[in-house]
Amino acid sequence: MKKILIIYYSKTKKTETVAKTLADELSAKTMEIEDLKDRYGILSNIGSIIDAIRENKTTIEPETIDLTGYDLLYIGSPTWAGKPAPAIITLIDNLKLKGKDVILFATMGHQGGSNVINRMAEKIKARGGRIINSFTIKTGGKQFNEIKEDTLKVMAEKDLKIYSMG
Ligand SMILES: Cc1cc2nc3c(=O)[nH]c(=O)nc-3n(C[C@H](O)[C@H](O)[C@H](O)COP(=O)(O)O)c2cc1C
Repeated sequence: MKKILIIYYSKTKKTETVAKTLADELSAKTMEIEDLKDRYGILSNIGSIIDAIRENKTTIEPETIDLTGYDLLYIGSPTWAGKPAPAIITLIDNLKLKGKDVILFATMGHQGGSNVINRMAEKIKARGGRIINSFTIKTGGKQFNEIKEDTLKVMAEKDLKIYSMG
């Protein structure tokens, strides 16, 4: 079995639900990236949208991850104004991705997830990573158990378990 790490940022636990479902199914480890900038206060949504559109860096914890020994990475982000969350933009630039296989996922209320995937893919390829698959999950109006079911459905459709074998 391959050693898999699932890296994600999640403000309201939806991307986390996808990440944890993947981890359970693939016997993989998860690593949550925290954004140390206040994303919860009044007006913080406007700041978050501006940061996402401009791809402003933020302060994250952990700042980077040692990827030695991992054969496959999943990287997941929510959609913010049609862009990856700033925490994920910041993290990608700190990772040593040369020769790494990466599967991308994005959650979105209703739209913009494919743009998130494309932007993450561009940045990861520029750092020497190889995108081998990707998917988006719509979370608008859904309960956590529905997000989990949708993740299982996408995993089956895309045959994602194939990538965890030998
Ligand atoms: C600042 C901000 C901007 C957002 N922009 C979009 C958007 O452009 N399109 C969309 O479909 N959903 C948008 N959303 C909704 C989230 O992408 C969606 O709820 C996502 O699943 C949240 O994931 P999380 O719980 O892991 O944070 C936005 C949410 C926030 C907080």
